[in-house]
Amino acid sequence: MTEAQVSIKSEKPTQREEVHAVIKAAFKQDNEVELVKQLREAKTFIPELSMVAMVDDKIVGHAMLSPAFIEKADSERIEVLALAPVAVHPDYQNQGLGKKLVNSLLALTEVKFGDIYRGIIVLGDCSYYSKFGFVQASQFGVCAPFKCEEKNFMAMPITNNALANCQGEVVYPAAFSCV
Ligand SMILES: CC(C)(COP(=O)(O)OP(=O)(O)OC[C@H]1O[C@@H](n2cnc3c(N)ncnc32)[C@H](O)[C@@H]1OP(=O)(O)O)[C@@H](O)C(=O)NCCC(=O)NCCS
Repeated sequence: MTEAQVSIKSEKPTQREEVHAVIKAAFKQDNEVELVKQLREAKTFIPELSMVAMVDDKIVGHAMLSPAFIEKADSERIEVLALAPVAVHPDYQNQGLGKKLVNSLLALTEVKFGDIYRGIIVLGDCSYYSKFGFVQASQFGVCAPFKCEEKNFMAMPITNNALANCQGEVVYPAAFSCV
């Protein structure tokens, strides 16, 4: 696989079945496929932020960001994006595609959505996501609505200091109840 063969693009509706097959192969179960299907049906879905990694014309990876919010103690809502799921087909893992996918999502978000959303939230392996600039969400006073290892519940401001004074609990879209 050469650099020239790889492209990262927003997912097209006609690519959905191929995307589901990649997610199922990566996670070895259907929950994340169901999550993606339900997130696409939500009225908050942003098609541009569901992205695929392609090698030549073949889809081998997928990642998406979905609107969520932080609810502060005074009930103020801070708009954020939740990163999930991120999947690369097992035959193509550890070749930098996950990194390219996430970096493309982050770059697009900063340019096009940085004035709407304040930060990005992710629950995942901190050794992987820290490479992108995510830090423990608790550093911003942001907490998860479920029990998890604190170090793996992470956040990143979209622009400098955008998560200052955002202490509160993350509220995920209802679709997340399937994972
Ligand atoms: C996690 C995943 C998306 C990474 O994509 P990838 O293309 O394989 O990863 P990259 O090539 O960009 O990065 C490789 C690096 O990530 C590390 N890595 C890969 N999967 C990892 C994981 N699950 N946890 C922690 N680190 C991981 C590798 O060890 C490697 O580290 P190095 O750069 O220090 O050598 C992919 O392995 C995958 O789909 N896994 C199954 C589904 C999953 O667990 N998704 C994440 C849910 S939050």
